[in-house]
Amino acid sequence: MSTQPYRILFVCLGNICRSPLAEGVFRQHVVEAGLSERFAIASAGTGGWHVGSPPDPRMCRTARARGVEIGHQRGRQLVAEDLLRHELILGMDRQNLANIQKLASADVPASRVNLFRRFDPEPGTLEVPDPYYGPDDGFEEVFDIVHRTSAALLAHLRAELGW
Ligand code: 4NP
Repeated sequence: MSTQPYRILFVCLGNICRSPLAEGVFRQHVVEAGLSERFAIASAGTGGWHVGSPPDPRMCRTARARGVEIGHQRGRQLVAEDLLRHELILGMDRQNLANIQKLASADVPASRVNLFRRFDPEPGTLEVPDPYYGPDDGFEEVFDIVHRTSAALLAHLRAELGW
Protein backbone atom coordinates (compact mmCIF):
# COMPACT_ATOMS: atom_id res chain seq x y z
CA MET A 1 0.00 0.00 0.00
CA SER A 2 1.28 3.45 -0.89
CA THR A 3 2.01 5.81 2.01
CA GLN A 4 1.57 8.82 -0.27
CA PRO A 5 -1.83 10.47 0.02
CA TYR A 6 -4.11 10.59 -2.99
CA ARG A 7 -3.97 14.23 -4.06
CA ILE A 8 -7.15 15.83 -5.33
CA LEU A 9 -7.68 19.43 -6.47
CA PHE A 10 -11.00 21.21 -7.03
CA VAL A 11 -10.90 24.10 -9.50
CA CYS A 12 -13.30 26.94 -10.30
CA LEU A 13 -12.87 30.47 -11.65
CA GLY A 14 -12.41 32.64 -8.54
CA ASN A 15 -11.62 30.02 -5.85
CA ILE A 16 -14.00 31.83 -3.50
CA CYS A 17 -17.33 30.00 -4.08
CA ARG A 18 -17.58 26.58 -5.73
CA SER A 19 -14.14 25.01 -5.34
CA PRO A 20 -13.59 26.06 -1.69
CA LEU A 21 -16.98 24.53 -0.95
CA ALA A 22 -16.04 21.31 -2.78
CA GLU A 23 -12.76 21.21 -0.85
CA GLY A 24 -14.56 21.64 2.49
CA VAL A 25 -17.40 19.23 1.78
CA PHE A 26 -15.14 16.53 0.33
CA ARG A 27 -12.80 16.90 3.31
CA GLN A 28 -15.73 16.46 5.67
CA HIS A 29 -16.82 13.32 3.82
CA VAL A 30 -13.26 11.98 4.00
CA VAL A 31 -13.02 12.72 7.74
CA GLU A 32 -16.38 11.03 8.38
CA ALA A 33 -15.12 7.97 6.49
CA GLY A 34 -11.98 7.87 8.67
CA LEU A 35 -9.76 8.37 5.62
CA SER A 36 -8.06 11.71 6.48
CA GLU A 37 -4.59 10.20 6.21
CA ARG A 38 -5.25 8.92 2.72
CA PHE A 39 -6.16 12.16 0.99
CA ALA A 40 -4.58 15.56 0.38
CA ILE A 41 -7.41 17.92 -0.60
CA ALA A 42 -7.05 21.41 -2.06
CA SER A 43 -8.71 23.94 -4.35
CA ALA A 44 -7.62 26.67 -6.75
CA GLY A 45 -9.02 29.23 -9.17
CA THR A 46 -8.11 29.64 -12.82
CA GLY A 47 -8.29 33.43 -12.25
CA GLY A 48 -6.08 35.40 -9.90
CA TRP A 49 -8.44 38.12 -8.63
CA HIS A 50 -9.03 36.56 -5.21
CA VAL A 51 -5.59 35.21 -4.33
CA GLY A 52 -5.18 35.36 -0.55
CA SER A 53 -8.87 36.10 0.09
CA PRO A 54 -11.25 34.03 2.20
CA PRO A 55 -14.23 32.44 0.45
CA ASP A 56 -17.25 34.62 -0.39
CA PRO A 57 -19.23 35.36 2.82
CA ARG A 58 -22.43 34.07 1.18
CA MET A 59 -20.76 30.72 0.46
CA CYS A 60 -19.30 30.61 3.99
CA ARG A 61 -22.75 31.29 5.50
CA THR A 62 -24.49 28.64 3.44
CA ALA A 63 -21.80 26.07 4.22
CA ARG A 64 -21.79 26.89 7.94
CA ALA A 65 -25.59 26.56 8.11
CA ARG A 66 -25.17 23.06 6.66
CA GLY A 67 -22.36 22.10 9.05
CA VAL A 68 -19.29 22.75 6.89
CA GLU A 69 -16.68 25.35 7.89
CA ILE A 70 -14.72 26.86 4.97
CA GLY A 71 -13.89 30.34 6.32
CA HIS A 72 -10.23 29.50 7.04
CA GLN A 73 -9.48 28.79 3.37
CA ARG A 74 -7.59 31.33 1.24
CA GLY A 75 -7.79 31.79 -2.51
CA ARG A 76 -4.97 30.68 -4.73
CA GLN A 77 -4.47 30.53 -8.46
CA LEU A 78 -3.97 27.31 -10.42
CA VAL A 79 -0.43 26.83 -11.73
CA ALA A 80 0.92 24.30 -14.24
CA GLU A 81 2.72 22.38 -11.49
CA ASP A 82 -0.66 21.58 -9.90
CA LEU A 83 -1.36 19.27 -12.81
CA LEU A 84 1.78 17.28 -12.08
CA ARG A 85 1.26 17.18 -8.31
CA HIS A 86 -2.34 15.98 -8.15
CA GLU A 87 -3.81 12.62 -9.12
CA LEU A 88 -7.19 14.15 -9.92
CA ILE A 89 -8.07 17.72 -10.94
CA LEU A 90 -11.80 18.46 -11.16
CA GLY A 91 -13.22 21.58 -12.81
CA MET A 92 -16.59 22.95 -11.78
CA ASP A 93 -17.62 23.96 -15.32
CA ARG A 94 -16.44 23.54 -18.90
CA GLN A 95 -14.67 26.88 -18.94
CA ASN A 96 -12.65 25.80 -15.91
CA LEU A 97 -11.90 22.49 -17.63
CA ALA A 98 -10.66 24.23 -20.78
CA ASN A 99 -8.45 26.55 -18.72
CA ILE A 100 -7.02 23.60 -16.75
CA GLN A 101 -6.27 21.75 -19.99
CA LYS A 102 -4.47 24.81 -21.38
CA LEU A 103 -1.95 24.51 -18.53
CA ALA A 104 -1.39 20.78 -19.06
CA SER A 105 1.95 19.74 -20.54
CA ALA A 106 2.29 16.59 -22.65
CA ASP A 107 3.27 14.48 -19.62
CA VAL A 108 -0.04 15.11 -17.82
CA PRO A 109 -2.35 12.13 -18.47
CA ALA A 110 -5.70 13.35 -19.87
CA SER A 111 -7.54 11.05 -17.44
CA ARG A 112 -6.29 13.17 -14.55
CA VAL A 113 -8.50 16.14 -15.49
CA ASN A 114 -12.28 15.93 -15.48
CA LEU A 115 -15.51 17.71 -14.66
CA PHE A 116 -16.54 17.40 -11.01
CA ARG A 117 -20.13 16.62 -11.98
CA ARG A 118 -19.08 13.54 -13.96
CA PHE A 119 -19.53 12.00 -10.50
CA ASP A 120 -22.99 13.52 -9.84
CA PRO A 121 -25.40 10.63 -9.29
CA GLU A 122 -28.28 12.73 -10.65
CA PRO A 123 -28.66 13.12 -14.42
CA GLY A 124 -28.54 16.60 -15.95
CA THR A 125 -26.00 19.29 -16.73
CA LEU A 126 -22.35 18.49 -15.98
CA GLU A 127 -21.58 22.01 -14.74
CA VAL A 128 -21.83 23.53 -11.25
CA PRO A 129 -23.51 26.91 -11.88
CA ASP A 130 -21.48 29.96 -10.90
CA PRO A 131 -23.42 31.56 -7.99
CA TYR A 132 -21.28 34.71 -7.72
CA TYR A 133 -23.54 37.19 -9.55
CA GLY A 134 -26.82 35.49 -8.67
CA PRO A 135 -29.30 35.47 -5.76
CA ASP A 136 -28.65 33.78 -2.42
CA ASP A 137 -30.61 30.64 -3.29
CA GLY A 138 -27.94 29.94 -5.91
CA PHE A 139 -25.58 29.15 -3.06
CA GLU A 140 -28.06 26.64 -1.62
CA GLU A 141 -28.33 24.96 -5.02
CA VAL A 142 -24.54 24.81 -5.31
CA PHE A 143 -24.33 23.27 -1.84
CA ASP A 144 -26.82 20.53 -2.74
CA ILE A 145 -25.00 19.71 -5.98
CA VAL A 146 -21.57 19.71 -4.34
CA HIS A 147 -22.70 17.66 -1.35
CA ARG A 148 -24.24 14.77 -3.30
CA THR A 149 -21.46 14.80 -5.93
CA SER A 150 -18.75 14.77 -3.27
CA ALA A 151 -20.29 11.74 -1.55
CA ALA A 152 -20.48 9.87 -4.87
CA LEU A 153 -16.93 10.91 -5.77
CA LEU A 154 -15.61 9.51 -2.50
CA ALA A 155 -17.53 6.25 -3.02
CA HIS A 156 -16.06 6.02 -6.54
CA LEU A 157 -12.51 6.61 -5.33
CA ARG A 158 -12.85 4.15 -2.43
CA ALA A 159 -13.95 1.47 -4.90
CA GLU A 160 -11.19 2.35 -7.38
CA LEU A 161 -8.45 2.52 -4.75
CA GLY A 162 -9.71 -0.43 -2.70
CA TRP A 163 -10.28 1.69 0.42
P1 4NP B 1 -16.22 30.79 -8.17
O1 4NP B 1 -17.14 32.08 -8.37
O2 4NP B 1 -15.53 30.55 -9.50
O3 4NP B 1 -17.19 29.70 -7.84
O4 4NP B 1 -15.27 31.11 -7.06
C1 4NP B 1 -16.63 33.31 -8.84
C2 4NP B 1 -16.03 34.16 -7.95
C3 4NP B 1 -15.52 35.38 -8.38
C4 4NP B 1 -15.62 35.72 -9.72
C5 4NP B 1 -16.20 34.83 -10.61
C6 4NP B 1 -16.70 33.63 -10.16
N1 4NP B 1 -15.13 36.96 -10.16
O5 4NP B 1 -15.32 37.29 -11.34
O6 4NP B 1 -14.50 37.70 -9.37
